[in-house]
Amino acid sequence: METTGAIKGSERRHLRLENLPQRKNIQAPFPRSPRSVDPNNPPWPAFRGYHTYSFANATMGHRLPTILGKAIDDVIATLNDQSEEDKIIDLVQCIERMEYLKGELERSAKLRPVVDDGEADVALWNKEIAKYFLGKDFMNATWLFAEAYKYRRLRECFSVSKYWRNYDVFFRQKCDTFSRSTDAVFELSMRFVEPFKHAPNLTDNEQLEKERLMFMELTQICLWGNSTDLSLLINMTEEQIKSLQSTGGEALAETEKNILGNHMHRLWEIVKDLREKKGQPNAVFDDEEIAVSGAVNAKDHMKAPGGRVDFILDNAGFELYCDCVYADFLIQSGFASQVRFHGKRYPWFVSDVTKKDWEWLLNIMVYGQLFSKVSEEEKESLKRLGRRWKQYEKEGKWVYEQHPFWCTGYTYWDLHSEAPDLFLHLSRSDLVIFKGDLNHRKLTYDCAAPASTTFEDSIGPMASAAGAPRVCSMRTIKSDVVVGLGENGDEIAEKLNKDEEGWKISGKYAVVLVSEGRPGELVRFA
Ligand code: F6P
Ligand code: MG
Repeated sequence: METTGAIKGSERRHLRLENLPQRKNIQAPFPRSPRSVDPNNPPWPAFRGYHTYSFANATMGHRLPTILGKAIDDVIATLNDQSEEDKIIDLVQCIERMEYLKGELERSAKLRPVVDDGEADVALWNKEIAKYFLGKDFMNATWLFAEAYKYRRLRECFSVSKYWRNYDVFFRQKCDTFSRSTDAVFELSMRFVEPFKHAPNLTDNEQLEKERLMFMELTQICLWGNSTDLSLLINMTEEQIKSLQSTGGEALAETEKNILGNHMHRLWEIVKDLREKKGQPNAVFDDEEIAVSGAVNAKDHMKAPGGRVDFILDNAGFELYCDCVYADFLIQSGFASQVRFHGKRYPWFVSDVTKKDWEWLLNIMVYGQLFSKVSEEEKESLKRLGRRWKQYEKEGKWVYEQHPFWCTGYTYWDLHSEAPDLFLHLSRSDLVIFKGDLNHRKLTYDCAAPASTTFEDSIGPMASAAGAPRVCSMRTIKSDVVVGLGENGDEIAEKLNKDEEGWKISGKYAVVLVSEGRPGELVRFA
């Protein structure tokens, strides 16, 4: 029997709707007003795992289970080297927890609270889950949160164990990127081993121009060092790595064309002026900072010229080495009197720097025997560079820190509210450099903002809050969010969408973006 209510397709075409209101072109309410923004509702639409058009989908659906599978293989390799029964049983349980987590990812399970494993960030995680992601799963929570959550859960697999609390499933891979980068490592060590000095008889202007040129090249070295991200480039050949890491002048001029949002000239103006900071209050340590850093001779270099530069680090191994070369130049040329490096408290997004990676790099440079096929002179250059960097640490010119906030699911729009101590600390810096793709996603709330959105607008309170420091994002583009391309940015992005599939994940393009912030203003918390 036919139901009278069912309208067949042909009949529907004849429906007359002239008495209903006219169709309107409804504008989506984006960007959301700052008061309606929260971790599940960014200013522009969030990327989520179920969005098949976004890199979120490939990452949540394929890359993360693969990364976890490889991590399990790593632990099995460690297990097979053990002899003590207690430790073996404890490690087997870690593997079981990892396998369970892999299953949860594969079936997109709901996100549960993190267990109290004694980490400093448990409350931050569980508050965010309860307030914004209750009942959400790996695919329908925001991509940024779900991906970060996976690394927190991976941490939990070990942090509840007795013997393996600090085990790093990515450590072997991270060390590998450095040892597989021989050419670029020694190219840089041979060029920078001699402390930086000007040729005699140069005028002041000529000296400054020389420094500017060096700064521009080093900025690019530091930037493109971010291309070698393990989570994406795990299967690269040495040849491919070499071409990515090429540090020659010509190659750099060529790659500058690929910096789609390029504020490097403004960055130079900022850095150049730091040398004038001698004796200014925030160019020196205050007592609290001496206590935090434990710097032995901190007071000594209170008189040194230059500002304070902070690096929010990204990847270990080769990228960290490039960051250090850059930081070394800033110290030697007197632009910075102190550089503070911020790393992660535990293994994070495969390649990110932890304290152990930091120590490994400096020590392997001085004492290691990683590179057998290079000359004695080259070996010596790496040792000397490493010794110099360790000396900076002793003198408090370089300081390594690891605030718990860097390993949370919050974006940096919430840094001011969720980590006020860290915001205050960064507000005393003269320049905060954020490295890499994930830091950029967190600065910009990882959402579908138009590419013409200004960097300042896209980072919200990190630019607009009173006392916000000057911020620079140095990022090779490896995921969906792209902003800061200038007034015709939407057209540039549109053209690349048409002409070059995958341009947002290849690491071929980059941005170096600067926000002026509101330095010097009194920081306020509501
Ligand atoms: O898994 C995707 C991602 O989070 C992207 O941000 C990027 O592709 C990669 O992992 C991390 O890159 P980076 O080390 O530059 O932050
Ligand atoms: Mg990283």
